[in-house]
Amino acid sequence: VSRLATYEPEHLPGILALCAAEGWPSLVADPLRAQRALTAPGVTTVVAMDDDGSVVGFAQLLSDGEVQACLVLLAVDAGHRRGGIATSLVVEGLRRAGGERMDLLSEDGAVEFYESLPHRRKPGFRLYPPNR
Ligand SMILES: CC(C)(COP(=O)(O)OP(=O)(O)OC[C@H]1O[C@@H](n2cnc3c(N)ncnc32)[C@H](O)[C@@H]1OP(=O)(O)O)[C@@H](O)C(=O)NCCC(=O)NCCS
Repeated sequence: VSRLATYEPEHLPGILALCAAEGWPSLVADPLRAQRALTAPGVTTVVAMDDDGSVVGFAQLLSDGEVQACLVLLAVDAGHRRGGIATSLVVEGLRRAGGERMDLLSEDGAVEFYESLPHRRKPGFRLYPPNR
């Protein structure tokens, strides 16, 4: 059984452990930067917790609060998958963030998860600043 909570600083080590397990370096490299990223204006971070209070999943969203939301990060602990936690995080994350819909770029291994939700497919891009 897991329950959802709005991100608090006490959840940071658990979130960073989930990122490290997925090989995602950006937040892990700098916890103070991670704390700012997870709480920045327009960001909604929702955490799933086990009965003992340990973090077993999280979702970070960006939203204009009205129409458009984007899913930035989503991960569930490997030992807690296929129990509906990610579905709850996405549904509740959008409800809390506000917005009619959510865009995202999937990891290869998460495609079937996203396909399980009501969706439309569109080509995705990740843009970077121009080289100078
Ligand atoms: C993708 C991820 C977040 C899914 O989390 P989860 O809590 O297991 O997802 P749910 O239990 O809500 O899954 C809902 C449905 O999605 C589908 N699904 C989820 N994972 C699946 C998988 N590995 N293979 C096939 N279908 C899958 C199933 O239809 C599932 O329903 P079912 O279990 O009743 O069959 C999790 O596997 C994960 O953290 N992966 C590594 C990190 C990652 O890729 N994150 C996404 C970055 S874009």
